[in-house]
Amino acid sequence: MSEPQPIHLSDYRPPAYRVTHTELTFDLDPAATRVKARLHLERHPEREAGELWLDGEALTLTSIAVDGQALAEDEYEVSADGLRIKRLPDACLLDTEVEIAPKDNTALAGLYQSGGMFCTQCEAEGFRRITYYPDRPDVMATFSTTVIGDAGREPVLLSNGNPVEKGELPNGRHFVTWDDPHPKPCYLFALVAGDLSKVEDAFTTMSGRHVTLQIWVEAENLDKTDHAMASLKRAMRWDEEAYGREYDLDLFMIVAVNDFNMGAMENKGLNIFNSAAVLTHPNTATDAAFQRVEGIVAHEYFHNWSGNRVTCRDWFQLSLKEGFTVFRDQTFSAEVNSAPVKRIEEVSFFRTAQFAEDAGPTAHPVRPDSYIEIGNFYTLTIYEKGAEIVRMLANLVGEETFRRGSDLYFSRFDGQAVTIEDFVACMAEVSGLDPTQFLRWYSQAGTPEIDAFGEYDYANGAYRLILRQRTPATPGQPDKQALHIPIRLGLVGTKSGRDLRLTLDGEDLGRDAVIHLREDEQEFLFTDVEEAPVPSLLRGFSAPVKLSFPYSREDLAFLMAHDSDGFNRWDAGQRLTLLALDDLIAAHRNGVEKVMDARVVEAFRVLLAENTDDKAVLAEMLSLPSEAYIAEQQPLVDVDAIFAARTFVKQSLAQELRDEFMAIYRANQSDAEYAPTPEQIGERALKNVALSYLISIEDEEAVALAQAQFEADHNMTDVRHALTLLVHSSRADLADPALRAFGQKWSHDPLVMDQWFSLQVTRPQSDALDRVRYLMEHPAFSLKNPNKVRALIGAFAGQNRVNFHRLDGEGYRLLADVVIELNRLNPEIAARIVTPLTRWQRFDEARQELMKSELERIRQEPLSPNVYEIVHKALA
Ligand code: TRP
Ligand code: ZN
Repeated sequence: MSEPQPIHLSDYRPPAYRVTHTELTFDLDPAATRVKARLHLERHPEREAGELWLDGEALTLTSIAVDGQALAEDEYEVSADGLRIKRLPDACLLDTEVEIAPKDNTALAGLYQSGGMFCTQCEAEGFRRITYYPDRPDVMATFSTTVIGDAGREPVLLSNGNPVEKGELPNGRHFVTWDDPHPKPCYLFALVAGDLSKVEDAFTTMSGRHVTLQIWVEAENLDKTDHAMASLKRAMRWDEEAYGREYDLDLFMIVAVNDFNMGAMENKGLNIFNSAAVLTHPNTATDAAFQRVEGIVAHEYFHNWSGNRVTCRDWFQLSLKEGFTVFRDQTFSAEVNSAPVKRIEEVSFFRTAQFAEDAGPTAHPVRPDSYIEIGNFYTLTIYEKGAEIVRMLANLVGEETFRRGSDLYFSRFDGQAVTIEDFVACMAEVSGLDPTQFLRWYSQAGTPEIDAFGEYDYANGAYRLILRQRTPATPGQPDKQALHIPIRLGLVGTKSGRDLRLTLDGEDLGRDAVIHLREDEQEFLFTDVEEAPVPSLLRGFSAPVKLSFPYSREDLAFLMAHDSDGFNRWDAGQRLTLLALDDLIAAHRNGVEKVMDARVVEAFRVLLAENTDDKAVLAEMLSLPSEAYIAEQQPLVDVDAIFAARTFVKQSLAQELRDEFMAIYRANQSDAEYAPTPEQIGERALKNVALSYLISIEDEEAVALAQAQFEADHNMTDVRHALTLLVHSSRADLADPALRAFGQKWSHDPLVMDQWFSLQVTRPQSDALDRVRYLMEHPAFSLKNPNKVRALIGAFAGQNRVNFHRLDGEGYRLLADVVIELNRLNPEIAARIVTPLTRWQRFDEARQELMKSELERIRQEPLSPNVYEIVHKALA
């Protein structure tokens, strides 16, 4: 294979030809599907006539004609990545026919088979594996698609839009023709064919349009679609109310497939979902899964406007649709659930995973300048940091103005393929904001670091706050410029415990306000501050930055108890615990006896005594920072010390507050019928956090409670939590039979088996790696199924830090073996699963060497562009 070359944003040129209409006919066959394509081509007015480039990969061309005339061999050129036609009239019809083999498609991009059914995944560049086409998002066409299949094997034949014709054919074949009147890029094309059953419902839009809603699944999953359907209807109503966006076809379909590279895909009128992102049942899915399904159903639905009606000019603009749509789904989920908990969950995930990405060798701006393989850029930076940027914009201009900006954006660009600047320009136009400095958020990679200092002037009743920003160098970007960083804050009076009035430059800003950091260093002088305050900074995580302030532990305990911002109350607790963990990590490394910080114990005692009605928030406040987040804070990661320190804190709190935890557990036990309501979810979370603490000290009563909770078999949240606690404890006598019973009971359900795999390979005991190897041979495991790879290999490498980072290098070796095999089967998944190895700079020298040598071993292979790009960046 030749060395893959990068593509640059600066090389963008509009397409030479438009496709105004696309007609497709699929004659389905696992080994030899024939695809006929008729493209209605029109020369772009600003480009000279002549050549046309069509992308195509792994296609066998069987015929090609222009305006009905077969092309002679010297009139076109076929290569491994496409087809060039040397001369074309200004407007013409191009007919091609190709043959493809869906059954051999293990990459799960293009047309492939999942179980017995045919399905497609075209984003980002999968359509070129179906037919020759200008496979780029700025070519938008209406589609008419005829699907021909075997009436017995594929009774259901689906594509985008509305069904317009169907009929029987000879030899037991039949067909359906679909029409999609909305011009779309080919990455939104979809086809599904198989033996599927549906659940049907309906929605009436705000203008009175009747929409049929269908969820298509395998017959045995018909009882697992209620939650997705209810979520879809909520999302449709919410988009009308919050953004004035209405659905635009008579039919909206969701299909669940078992083999899928990502969560789900927003194909026009025919969303295709990983079954894990759509199917739920109280007995098989946890609360977290219910919430994830709600969020993803909404996300894909929201793409109908932010992505489909208005799409991306090129893939460098990916965050235009993804960042905005994540922001939209986050806002939706916050409104239909508990908003503070939603924000805490988002931020704790973001600060762990996106910060790590920003600090590693694949760090990139939200709008990258170049890429080798676009499939590698469906990242936390594009999605989650992109959403944080949109959130900052929304907060900067205010809710109503943001709505006017989004209305302008959707109306001005409807049916077009546009850029991130176009979006920001709409927001600037309606608000008067100068977007120049703000746009640096899109072009500059890395996490800005803010050092804050404050001092209270007793004589003058003034508080001086100094903020300094810097963004560390990232690959290809040694020097960074100052960003525009909105910082929401309050000053909490140490006497009153209340937010004080904020007066800045003579202006009264109220008691909770946003200040704007634009320079490298800036001073803010608050006057008329009647008592000494503790500053509460970056409330609600108002910008995606790291902010440090020299808080004392007393300050943090104070904020934990008094901050009016729920998010910062939680964050103060995290900061306090992290300070204690720092000491314990040092003690562990120095072989000194560990001593628990009494201030942390007292702060937790206060929390446990509090009579809060938001149980979900309390559960979050009682949860210790994850090993991964603790590692994020350390200059050099010592996995063993982190594990030991965290375990020590957990056990100390459990010992000191045993009765309080037990009381919480008992008070939140319930045998009410399961419902995924915020109240019930909060209650279960709180109860289960308490049980985790108690089990950590192997409290006999708690062990019996865990066993009873498992056996009560009330709902998957409780069952899985109890089973995990038993399996992660040293009580093999209880864990082994429970694990066996669970595995047998659910051997028919792949989504439950995923959980069964994950919870075993994340146990901290030293046999975890042997279990991974053993479970890779289990009949329910397959490297060809991405969910299984994530459940077993991904969970082990990402969540079992002490075992993955074993000093004998066996964890790294196992991961590299899997990457090498997946590189051949499914490059997109291979390039994702390799991530933990690319973070080698963060570890001690011995581990660095071991990790690098595994990356070197991978590099020796003939690599897909996906894995090539990641491994080369990691070793650069
Ligand atoms: N656009 C999809 C989403 O975020 C993402 C997606 C689904 C995807 N499948 C993919 C991206 C395959 C790349 C490859 O909603
Ligand atoms: Zn998306």
